[in-house]
Amino acid sequence: METLNYIETTFHEDIGADVLKGLTAPRKSIPSKYLYDARGSAIFEEICRLPEYYPTRTELSILKDAAPAVMERFCGGDIVELGAGSSLKIRTLLGGLPAGRLQGIRYIPVDVSIAALEASACELVDLYPGLELLGIAADFTRHMDMIPAGRKRLFVFFGSTIGNFDEDEGAGFLKGIACSMNTGDLLLIGFDMLKPRAVVEQAYNDSAGVTAEFNRNILRVVNRELGADFDLGLFSHRALFNEERGRVEMYLRAEAETVVNIGALGLEVGFEKGEGILTEICRKFTREGIERTALDAGLAVTAWFSDPKGWFSLVIMERRGRQGG
Ligand code: AVJ
Repeated sequence: METLNYIETTFHEDIGADVLKGLTAPRKSIPSKYLYDARGSAIFEEICRLPEYYPTRTELSILKDAAPAVMERFCGGDIVELGAGSSLKIRTLLGGLPAGRLQGIRYIPVDVSIAALEASACELVDLYPGLELLGIAADFTRHMDMIPAGRKRLFVFFGSTIGNFDEDEGAGFLKGIACSMNTGDLLLIGFDMLKPRAVVEQAYNDSAGVTAEFNRNILRVVNRELGADFDLGLFSHRALFNEERGRVEMYLRAEAETVVNIGALGLEVGFEKGEGILTEICRKFTREGIERTALDAGLAVTAWFSDPKGWFSLVIMERRGRQGG
């Protein structure tokens, strides 16, 4: 069994500073990245299989159809997956390769979790024994410079994860990728599209309560990492579609007045009955908005793949420049 080559960066998260800032602000929040510890990531995989959660299966069906066209445009080089997680999507993309065309392709997953990198590498090596692999354990919002340059590159960013950033963060993130792209490099990126409120709200309020469990898990993380005493039973899951802002807002709502003690911060945080903690935003996109954001980042949309209902889009972006037209 081959083992994965990987580059490890020295990033460290400061959950103490993040939680202090978020819970002492007038409108309380906790950064959504703390939803994804090992347990949270496993619950998220379960969300992806829920009947109400349409994004994953819609994106996969689009990818399955689009893979040959994407791989046709990308004739060898590095495939860099940002926030790689499970290997299902990259396997689907590689499925678009004509047999025997694997030569000259290197897969570079970038993820904060070495465990996730290794798990997905093992699955891939079994399926594609000839595939070259280089894992990068890094926070892709901060360590784009760790990703080797010099070969032609296809960046992939699935899942509409860009929707977890607000407008400014999303624009900044896209600019960062654009800056590291050369003419001829491609970015394949997924966007969950604006759609009727009921469909969206059901996707984030599943009947089995899995998303509620996922949301409350962030309090477990804070309890464990910072010696806090959140009573999970006091906080309930809320996910509302804010139509004006085109985004889902996920909250934990205190069902009774309470005081929480956060040991490692020497901090007591009071909650009024009904007060919420914002734990995640999930923006929904329009084609005009995507094209505008691309242009602002110095990119142009050069291919558009969608499902018949237009619920999700996979988009190829390239550096603007001499392509003309
Ligand atoms: C992982 C960001 C794509 O926004 O839909 C799913 C996270 N949160 N259900 C999303 C999530 C609640 C998901 N992304």
